[in-house]
Amino acid sequence: MSETVKLSIEDKTYELPVIEGSENEKAIDISKLRSQTGYITIDTGFKNTGSTTSGITFLDGEKGILRYRGYPIEQLAEKANFLEVSYLLIYGDLPTKIEYEAFKENITNHTLIHEDMRIFLDAYPTKAHPMGILSAAVCTLSTFYPESQKQNRSVEAIDLTIQRLLAKLPTLAAWAYKNSIGHPVNYPKNKYNYCENFLQMMFAMPAFEYEPDPVIVDALNKLLILHADHEQNCSASTVRIVGSSQANLYASISSGVSALWGPLHGGANQAVIGMLEKIMNDGGGLSKWINKAKDKNDSFRLMGFGHRVYKNFDPRAKIIKKAADDVLEKLGIVDPVLDIAKELEEVVLNDEYFQSRGLYPNVDFYSGIIYRALGIPTEMFTVMFAMGRLPGWIAQWKEMMEDNQPIGRPRQIYTGETERNYTSIEQR
Ligand code: CMC
Repeated sequence: MSETVKLSIEDKTYELPVIEGSENEKAIDISKLRSQTGYITIDTGFKNTGSTTSGITFLDGEKGILRYRGYPIEQLAEKANFLEVSYLLIYGDLPTKIEYEAFKENITNHTLIHEDMRIFLDAYPTKAHPMGILSAAVCTLSTFYPESQKQNRSVEAIDLTIQRLLAKLPTLAAWAYKNSIGHPVNYPKNKYNYCENFLQMMFAMPAFEYEPDPVIVDALNKLLILHADHEQNCSASTVRIVGSSQANLYASISSGVSALWGPLHGGANQAVIGMLEKIMNDGGGLSKWINKAKDKNDSFRLMGFGHRVYKNFDPRAKIIKKAADDVLEKLGIVDPVLDIAKELEEVVLNDEYFQSRGLYPNVDFYSGIIYRALGIPTEMFTVMFAMGRLPGWIAQWKEMMEDNQPIGRPRQIYTGETERNYTSIEQR
């Protein structure tokens, strides 16, 4: 007999089924709660709510474990390349050599963007944040591929949209950057791999040849892998909920880009550098900022610290910290902002306030530092996160569609006015 839990409401007892995952995580199934009892549950911020079962990513926040489709993140970051990991997340298994070559070729062949998209890009103000451009541009892609909006799309049609998204996002990202600095865009080049191609679109100039540095290419590959999925986070949940209305994949991914932009989610990597620069320019030492972060009457938070699920350490941060050290050493970079970061990390890790709340450096604390070392402009940091997270969003969307999940539609407890009568404007 499968496990159940008992719930007593007034004089009645209800038995609720328990669902167990493959890693022995347990959930109380409340899907029939309202119809059986008239009650709903409240869980603002979904801190205790499982929105789905999923076979994509496993993470254990207490133990600091993160696995994609069963593979430890440490192994993937060390040995795999980003397209292999994308395939793994989206299709469930690592690709064979033949599958990989076909996947790679399809993506390489779709990197170009319709020239008419340039008209949109040209129209943005030069100071436009590239995340605003990216979100809009991804949704705009759907207008170039109207067939992607049809219901009952074939597997081939969905695969084509997946390939187009993976192929075109780096082009859009690099073009958004070039647009923001008023430079001509660079077109994709098929001789390069995924990361090299992005780097040349970002940094090549008509005036000089650009050859991607293997140290930078390796670091970028690792960063993209580490960001590739993180189960039901804010942006993945957004993609699922938008997709659950049967909106097309471009629209769903565009909503994920917007959700990622916020400083409490992917926008934290940009905010970390902003914070470190502020501390450096202030010149008054760290204690003022540490005290501000602890002060409940002050909205200041230490960006890049804390995580909803990781309460001991973020395994991604561990890998990125090492990669950041390697890159800085290999590229011979000396950065005063980095010195502040190291000092801040040291103070926070030894401070009782942060220790008792399980607040450790997260992935965004170090990724900002490494992007800076790679020469990526600060405003592009969250765009880099979006490029990495894309296969995860696609995998989450695909799983939801294949599981035929119902439209996402939470309930609420209404706390507003009870019924009252309209009065004309003269009587108010
Ligand atoms: N600085 C100072 N205090 C903090 C911080 C911080 N960065 N993060 C959490 N706290 C405190 C918070 O004030 C609260 O204290 P108390 O219990 O006394 O009221 C306690 O720690 C728990 O915080 P919470 O807001 O309930 O935790 P949460 O799970 O809702 O929020 C978080 C998680 C990531 C939004 C939050 O830690 C935060 O705002 N961090 C800074 C932004 C950041 O770095 N975000 C990137 C996350 S990693 C990338 C990703 O996956 O999105």
